[in-house]
Amino acid sequence: MPIHALGRYWVLETAHSAYAFGLTPTTGALVHTHWGARLPDVGDYPPALDTQGYASFNGAGHLDCEEYPAHGGGLKYTEPCLKASFADGVRDLWLEFEYADVQGEQLVIALRDHRYKLQVDLVYEVFAEQDIIRRHAIIHNQGSEPVLLERHFSALWHLPYGDAYRLHHLTGRWNDEFEWRTDALTHGVKVLESRRLTTSHHHHPSFWLERGDADEDKGEVWFGTLAWSGNWKLCAEVTDFASTRLAIGINDWDSAWKLAPNERFITPHALAGYSAEGFGGASRRLHAYLRPRLPHPYMPRKVLFNSWEVSLFDVDVDSQKHYAELAAELGVELFVMDDGWFRGRHSDMAGLGDWTPDAHKFPHGLTPLIEHVKGLGMDFGLWVEPEMVNPDSDLYRQHPDWVLHYQGRPRTTARNQLILNLARQDVCDYVYAQMDALLSAHDIAFIKWDMNRNASEVGYGDLLPAPREAREIWVRYVQNLYAVWGKLAQKHPHVVWQSCSGGGGRADYGILAYADQIWVSDNTNPNRRLPMQEHFSHLFPPNIMEAWVTDMGEDYLPLEFRFHVSMIGALGIGANITRWTASERASAKRLIAQYKHMRHLIERGTLYRLRSARQHTESALMLVSPQQDEGVLFVYRTYAPQPNNPSALYLRGLNPEARYHIEGLGTKTGAGWMHTPLSLSLGNFESRLYPIRQV
Ligand code: DGJ
Repeated sequence: MPIHALGRYWVLETAHSAYAFGLTPTTGALVHTHWGARLPDVGDYPPALDTQGYASFNGAGHLDCEEYPAHGGGLKYTEPCLKASFADGVRDLWLEFEYADVQGEQLVIALRDHRYKLQVDLVYEVFAEQDIIRRHAIIHNQGSEPVLLERHFSALWHLPYGDAYRLHHLTGRWNDEFEWRTDALTHGVKVLESRRLTTSHHHHPSFWLERGDADEDKGEVWFGTLAWSGNWKLCAEVTDFASTRLAIGINDWDSAWKLAPNERFITPHALAGYSAEGFGGASRRLHAYLRPRLPHPYMPRKVLFNSWEVSLFDVDVDSQKHYAELAAELGVELFVMDDGWFRGRHSDMAGLGDWTPDAHKFPHGLTPLIEHVKGLGMDFGLWVEPEMVNPDSDLYRQHPDWVLHYQGRPRTTARNQLILNLARQDVCDYVYAQMDALLSAHDIAFIKWDMNRNASEVGYGDLLPAPREAREIWVRYVQNLYAVWGKLAQKHPHVVWQSCSGGGGRADYGILAYADQIWVSDNTNPNRRLPMQEHFSHLFPPNIMEAWVTDMGEDYLPLEFRFHVSMIGALGIGANITRWTASERASAKRLIAQYKHMRHLIERGTLYRLRSARQHTESALMLVSPQQDEGVLFVYRTYAPQPNNPSALYLRGLNPEARYHIEGLGTKTGAGWMHTPLSLSLGNFESRLYPIRQV
């Protein structure tokens, strides 16, 4: 049983971990007691004890490891999860335990302010097999006056007592996403956040914490992420009393939510897990959690061709038909036409908002191209950027007030575009109608949903929706984006969606409730992609990672190398295939066929990062089937000055007793492959892909 309710104490157990908390005997505070290894007996977990305050400067509440601290309630100065302002001006919240309810693998703890009728349900869900705990909060105004929520985080995670943690996280920028950073946490609060309206290329709402002794394969790692595609905030705090905790949720910067009487605010999910097998164990747990929850779980990824890096905006029916013919010969299964196809779109100066085919480029609409693509045995996919509008568009000429802006103030364009205010229902209805019309009128199997700028002037214009709160706009925008996308997905369930925001600007566990695939970066140079993809894999399984073979890097990287880098994800081609020689086309065809043969491992295989591209010029990854009867090993060498003495590789994840054959390397038991070094001698910019088969 994953949830033990022991009176005023609760233990959430997963296969290998446990998370425990309870009410203190005297003050009745809900305090955390354990997060780490699962212990043999539920009686082994530490009791919830009252703490003493410290001098006249810190109350007990400051020292308590509260599960969901509220702002107020005594001498407390650590980061709260909830901050509320009542109609009479009181900004003090004192949450007390009301009741607990266990239903299967879900525990709800209801807390309530001791005077105002504000209830907070803390919802805990246990994913026992994956060692993941998922939390969110439901804030319910049961009073008769509105309540202004000035912070409404999803969760606070307490680490085992100590102040010597390192925080690992992902950072970057456009064209350079998913860098891995490591910072020692020192006393005070380290804040990571997005203020951009999207998850952002710059920081990621994910964390990995350890005490300086974890590596890829061993050591304790506490990790987690937030399933939210808008502004978020993560506060990693080391207190003056040497405890460490991490609060995570929707960003309260410039944001507030007015909760009317009887309304509820539901926070996004915060996920967290514990791995005693280092960072590798952490990502395998996240992958196992996410894979079955994708919109199309375990769907084989179709090898796609995308027109962007080849044609840019210069798409038309004839050129695209020609690319489609060449792509089909290579074994491509999904032909995706990117930007440039709609009315007035000849550059990024115009057209966004007018989602009908450009009459010059497609005089008879999209259907002739789609039929051609289908006739070649491929599916058809299309690029859209539904949240955007160019000032030079019919939509903007008709509805200049539909964009995010402040009345009478400048509107900042970026890439010559403005953002439609999805917080407005009429705008959502328009976006839905446009996308629905496209999908209803055409045989479209795949949509790439892009968003190519971040926010500025995030206002309602002159439509301030009194009595609503103007600063809710950041949150309502994202809620409505999910609603529009969800409604489209429901009406067109066969469509596979890709989430893109100028590369990896909207890659998170929230958007993956709608999208199956993510565009990692506009940087498709395999040399850069190797570390980027590896860092991406800490969070996301290979099947959601779209990876194209393009012309980037062709001046120094062999085609096979470029393919091998992309074959560890959802393989695509974005290169100018009209320039490929007959021998290059033959290689591409062979590699695509090989990919189709092994792609079930991309869908379901367990990932092991054997050697990091961040630290080594020679890197390696492998995937092993859930039954451990087959796998695939990828090895890459970029540039290393001669002589090169590659360090030895040890395989992982095999059944020690079973025998495996690796072509060109021989046959050994799993134990043999995992405990004796594999010495491969690769030249500069050489890669190898080895299928592994149980014999
Ligand atoms: C940004 C995306 O990341 C690219 O792949 C491409 O779709 C362009 N937008 C099109 O404008």
